[in-house]
Amino acid sequence: MQPNMQNQVEEPSTKRAKTDGESKMAANTLPDDFKPPPDHYYQGIRMLAITPASTFDAIREMEVREDDIWVVTYPKAGTTWGQEVTSVIVERADLEKVKSKSLLARVPYLELGPLGQQGATYKMVEQMPSPRLIRTHLPYHLMPKQWFEKKPKTLYVARNPKDTAVSGWHFTKINHFFVTYDTFSDFFPKYLEGDVIYGSWFDHNLGFWEHRHDPNVLFVKFEDMKKDLKGQMIRIADFYGYPLPVDKIDAAVEHCTFDKMKKNPMANYSSAHFINHKKGTFHRKGEVGDWKNHFTVGQNEVFDAVYEDKMRGTGLVFDFEL
Ligand code: A3P
Repeated sequence: MQPNMQNQVEEPSTKRAKTDGESKMAANTLPDDFKPPPDHYYQGIRMLAITPASTFDAIREMEVREDDIWVVTYPKAGTTWGQEVTSVIVERADLEKVKSKSLLARVPYLELGPLGQQGATYKMVEQMPSPRLIRTHLPYHLMPKQWFEKKPKTLYVARNPKDTAVSGWHFTKINHFFVTYDTFSDFFPKYLEGDVIYGSWFDHNLGFWEHRHDPNVLFVKFEDMKKDLKGQMIRIADFYGYPLPVDKIDAAVEHCTFDKMKKNPMANYSSAHFINHKKGTFHRKGEVGDWKNHFTVGQNEVFDAVYEDKMRGTGLVFDFEL
């Protein structure tokens, strides 16, 4: 039986205290022994079963609007952060409004589903009023055909591949829909060869990096957001054409910090049943350089050699520590 993912986008009430029953629902999670349907390969890229080939095919043909705003990332690069920042900016830092709806209701995950009784998310996206905020992990070449024609503003958030790997490995342990890798050493070779969900970090990042000068693409690094969130939020807001009201900037930036987002039920997936809440929280560390606690010296040497080879001449550089 396919689980229904509806409560992924359910919105906890902000108007009154929760009853006991509701609190238990919020902590809802799939059974510990839940076995995800097997991954599949779409055009050679490993994908979760919760995004079938028919959904990717349909998204290629979907309607795109010029005034859409797209948030694109390789998984674990700061998607949620980019979504929240985008939502705050487009709502002109009206934080009460932002906090009245769950993140996935504000910025839906395009390629999810269909699941159980719930239709595919892209169909729901088609009905949304403009301006639509859309989150996706699609690689450049699988973006909808109309995305290339309508050229909506698109934020690409990139994170250094070592921290992305570590974050991704941890996520396999708390997300019911992922194949779990018990140790980082089990995950590392799969990541290196790109046999992970959404494929190779290198292909995905370089696919968008090559288009960083396109007027509708803004390439932002996770590490730069860590160094100067305010500066990056102003940059993103100006790019979208929704400049942040000066008197609200500081509150908007504070709202998007790791500590605030970790505690925000509308942005922390604390009621999402795709996460095994007994095993961890979605907001884990949010740091630059945690890879040093996981990579062995040998793995680091192997990774550096591949990195040097694939990144040579691209001009794309990352901070691996701050
Ligand atoms: P860690 O696992 O290293 O903590 P995604 O949203 O693409 O799945 O990425 C999740 C990663 O982004 C997690 O990294 C998470 O903690 C981090 N993250 C989410 N919100 C953040 C924020 N406001 N500041 C810094 N990191 C954040």
